[in-house]
Amino acid sequence: MDLTFAAIDLGISDLEKQKILNEILNVPSDYWHFNEFRGCHMLGIYNGGGKLGGRDIAGNTAKGEFDYTPAGKLCHYTRLTLQNKIFPFMDPIGRVTILRTKANAGLSVHLDSTLEEVGTLQHKFRFVLNGNIDKLYFIDKNRNKVFVPDCYDTYIMDGSHAHSLDPGTEEKITLCIGAPWKGKSNVNYDKVLENALYKFTVSRPETYEPEWLDPFFKK
Ligand SMILES: [Fe+2]
Repeated sequence: MDLTFAAIDLGISDLEKQKILNEILNVPSDYWHFNEFRGCHMLGIYNGGGKLGGRDIAGNTAKGEFDYTPAGKLCHYTRLTLQNKIFPFMDPIGRVTILRTKANAGLSVHLDSTLEEVGTLQHKFRFVLNGNIDKLYFIDKNRNKVFVPDCYDTYIMDGSHAHSLDPGTEEKITLCIGAPWKGKSNVNYDKVLENALYKFTVSRPETYEPEWLDPFFKK
C-alpha cells in the first residue's frame, strides 16, 4: 500500500493527552539530547536496552531487548496508554521517542529511512501532544510542499517520504514510534488503517538532496 499519511483514531481523549504531555514536561531536562541532523531535542521513552540518548553504532537502540528508559519509567500514564492503545497493533513494538521543536524553529527536510528503503514499508507513528499540527509537509515530485490538515493529532506517515516541519507559533512536542516497527500488517493494524479518518498519498520527488539523508545511516 502506497500511503503517505493516514490520520487514525485510537480513542485517546484530550484529558489523556494532557496527562501524557504533563508527564513529559516534568521529565528532568538532562534526560533529553539534541539531534543535530533533524535539529530538535529528543527524549527516549522505550528503547533497545532501555537506554537514553541518541542512536549509536556500538549499541543501536533499535536492536536488542527493549525496555523503558529512566525517562519512560517516570511517565506512568504514558506507559499505560502505550500498552493499552498503541502497542497492541504493533508487530514488533517500535522504539518510542519524544521530539521537541521550539516555537519559531522548523526541522531540516529529511528521510526517516535510507534511500534504498524509499517506497518500502516504512510507517511511522506520530501523536502530537502540543503545538501546530499543520506545519508538517511532504515534498512532491514538483518539489512543492504538501501540508497535512491541522485537525488530526494522531497519524501514521511514510518515513521514507522526504518531509519536514515549518516553524510553528508554539513549541511542538510529538510522541514518535518507528523501527523496528515499520507498519507490518496484522489484524489489529489492518483495522486501524481501515478505520482511518483521513488518508492521502503524495507523489515522490524524482531526485534526492544529499542533505536529506541521515548521516547515521551512512556510517
Ligand atoms: Fe521525520
